[in-house]
Amino acid sequence: MKVSASKNQVRRIGSKKHNTFVANGIDKHKPTALVPPSFLKSFSNELEKKIEIQHNIIEKLLVKAIGKPFYSDKGFILYRGDTIELLEKLSKYDLHIDLFLTSPPYNIGKEYERPMSVDDYIKWCHKWMSYIYKLTHDNGAFWLNVGYLEVPEKGLCVPIPYLLWDKTEFYLLQEIIWKYGAGVSTKLRLSPRNEKWLFYVKNQKKYTFNLDEIRDPNVKYPNQKKNGKFRCNPLGKNPSDIWEFPKVTTGSKRSSKERTGHPAQFPLGVVERIVKASSNQAELVFDPFAGSASAGIAAYGLGRLFIGFEIREDYCQMAVDRFEAFQKERRLSQSQLELF
Ligand SMILES: C[S@@+](CC[C@H](N)C(=O)[O-])C[C@H]1O[C@@H](n2cnc3c(N)ncnc32)[C@H](O)[C@@H]1O
Repeated sequence: MKVSASKNQVRRIGSKKHNTFVANGIDKHKPTALVPPSFLKSFSNELEKKIEIQHNIIEKLLVKAIGKPFYSDKGFILYRGDTIELLEKLSKYDLHIDLFLTSPPYNIGKEYERPMSVDDYIKWCHKWMSYIYKLTHDNGAFWLNVGYLEVPEKGLCVPIPYLLWDKTEFYLLQEIIWKYGAGVSTKLRLSPRNEKWLFYVKNQKKYTFNLDEIRDPNVKYPNQKKNGKFRCNPLGKNPSDIWEFPKVTTGSKRSSKERTGHPAQFPLGVVERIVKASSNQAELVFDPFAGSASAGIAAYGLGRLFIGFEIREDYCQMAVDRFEAFQKERRLSQSQLELF
């Protein structure tokens, strides 16, 4: 699949210092801000209208299929309930999701998990992944974030992709390593500092992949030329399959404003990259294990529509409070811009 920068796009890369500056602005945001600046941009009237129309159609279908949502506002719909029960009902309806993106429980004894044997865990994952497959648009994608679990008598930190990668009808395009700096320290083995994203598509020949939207402008030799032409794409390089994003920090002094009370929150920078790469504006993004709705914040901030399922009421409320605080920040930022 060839993706080239359109001619009228501004050259985003420059000096190394400039590149680092721009790259930081793209993937990260100030710890004092709730969201990255890219989520605060206003949309055209046409897109606003499109989202509103889509929202009304989708909400009507969802209410018919699975009842009243926990929360619904233009472009953001959240249900409280068990994902398998809800997905099963929904899969009987004509709904086509452009992007599923999620991180399920890893079966490692977290407060939001129901303990299962490894075999049962694999069967359980297989079940919800099969509903996801049914509900995915023909050109859609499924991004699955997983870590490690213990397989008794066999291994302590067994990568969950080894157990799950082919337990779905999706086509596995590739695995992405998400690397982060801080985490638990161990003495008898190496400290874990990565998780994986499995990037699946439904149709290996035709799928959305907006490389130019996620190019990394942090290029080492931006001005290198060949036959008088710049070697590097003017928007930057392909960000590769190793991504470095810090985990959302916690603790009284180093906690970022992005942090909610949820114990396993996605950093918004990671979900921003996935939403931009694998969906277009006004399309549907779905997280069946929504937690604090990080995927929903990214989807909404980037002009997509979000549907989320979450089993715990306290997390649903956390997600709604977060979403409303974000909406407030968005409105404030836009009204400030209108002053100039
Ligand atoms: C790893 S966390 C997801 C966190 C999320 N990515 C975020 O950024 O906040 C998994 C979530 O799945 C929820 N969950 C667990 N079992 C569930 C089920 N059967 N149906 C729906 N949600 C479930 C948990 O309560 C938890 O919030």
